[in-house]
Amino acid sequence: MAKNSVPEHVAIVMDGNGRWASKRFLPRIAGHKQGVESLKRCAKACEVRGIRVLTVFAFSSENWQRPADEVSGLMDLFAMALGREVAQLHADGVQLRFIGERQGLSPRVLTGIEQAETTTAQNQRLVLNVCFNYGGRWDIVQAAAQLQAKNIPANEDNLSQAMALAHVPDPDLVVRTGAEQRISNFLLWQSAYSEFYFSDKLWPDFDETSLDLALSTYAQRQRRFGKTSHQLDAADSAHQVA
Ligand code: FPP
Repeated sequence: MAKNSVPEHVAIVMDGNGRWASKRFLPRIAGHKQGVESLKRCAKACEVRGIRVLTVFAFSSENWQRPADEVSGLMDLFAMALGREVAQLHADGVQLRFIGERQGLSPRVLTGIEQAETTTAQNQRLVLNVCFNYGGRWDIVQAAAQLQAKNIPANEDNLSQAMALAHVPDPDLVVRTGAEQRISNFLLWQSAYSEFYFSDKLWPDFDETSLDLALSTYAQRQRRFGKTSHQLDAADSAHQVA
């Protein structure tokens, strides 16, 4: 059986920040702060390993329902992190994209998002999609609404092109940290044929070794895309002979 090479696109549900903080008797926001550090480390590690696209779930459409102080803390952290980290990400060749509903975000956050996207637009080493005020159902609905408004027929190709992640291929590997095993309204359309990997590590503890474990597990999977193993093995043998 042929092994997969390094995935082109890895997507991550960064779960477990709150528990990481609680274990240390710290406020939940301290866990989110550590989560930003973990994200920087992970983006760097992805670049080094030749991954071209990293998509992370930073704030879901449903996260507004959290306690008001956590929501405002996350918004502040997000705005501050944008101000502080974009220069280094730019120097590292990272193209930042923000995926999600922009209506309802504060002017400070919106300005940060727009500046980050403009500054890094030409970078090619790694595309970092930050899903913020995002939900997979929101994306499907907004794509369908775009097609309807333009009187374009709703088929798979047209919908895919109207989705918020149309600028990148679908994720090869979806990782969720924090020992939970669910999709939580992340990339519902795009993960149709993704491999899933669940890590018990809390997101702030998810380091290079954890990433490598996810990648080596992915490398052993056979992606069948609806075909049989026999068909794929036969195609591999033909490829090796040719
Ligand atoms: C889930 O952990 C994590 C979040 C809802 C927020 C993730 C945000 C970051 C890592 C910061 C991202 C910042 C930027 C600038 C992109 P949880 O709070 O649900 O953890 P728990 O399950 O342990 O409570």
